[in-house]
Amino acid sequence: MEKYYNKMLENNKKWVTSKLEKDPDYFLKLSKGQQPPVLWIGCSDSRVPANEIIGAEPGEVFVHRNIANMVVHSDMNLLSVLDYAVNVLKVKHIIVCGHYGCGGVQAAMTNKHIGLIDNWIRHIKDVYRFHSSELNSIVDEAERFNRFVELNVVEQVLDLAKTSIVQGAWGKNQDLHVHGWVYDVADGLIKDLGISIKNDDSLADVYQLDL
Ligand code: CO
Repeated sequence: MEKYYNKMLENNKKWVTSKLEKDPDYFLKLSKGQQPPVLWIGCSDSRVPANEIIGAEPGEVFVHRNIANMVVHSDMNLLSVLDYAVNVLKVKHIIVCGHYGCGGVQAAMTNKHIGLIDNWIRHIKDVYRFHSSELNSIVDEAERFNRFVELNVVEQVLDLAKTSIVQGAWGKNQDLHVHGWVYDVADGLIKDLGISIKNDDSLADVYQLDL
């Protein structure tokens, strides 16, 4: 344990050295500020490191991660990140990236009681309920799990579009695209679900705000 702990700090020093070898001003430039084009909303899962899987450098991706990449519209943490990303940093893309094999999504398919997290997972269970006819029709459990992961991303993309923050940006004709991706932990590849949206046309009428 001690060994792993010390290794992290050693790795940091090596990383700094390697960055400075390529560009002596690397950190000086980063210290001037950030203008990332992307907000990433992903899962906390240790196997899905946002920057690494898309080859992004520090300064390129503004990141929010939680269990099962959820967009819960009463979550002050998510809303604060979203507001800052959209209204201050003016990101052009928001990516919701789920992943196959997501423990949070899997837990939502079962009746297992884990603890406090049950209350978070309830939001994912709602997604199951919305899509229960499609999901229940999939006999193979692994296939049903994969589809549930995808549908959860679809719902989170729509949930982003429903927020006053994203609709406010669209109302001002700000260039803002929301995308849904699923990462496969088993082969490292990202699947673009092809559900990108840049206005509130695809939302049910009741969610469209007059802005
Ligand atoms: Co996950």
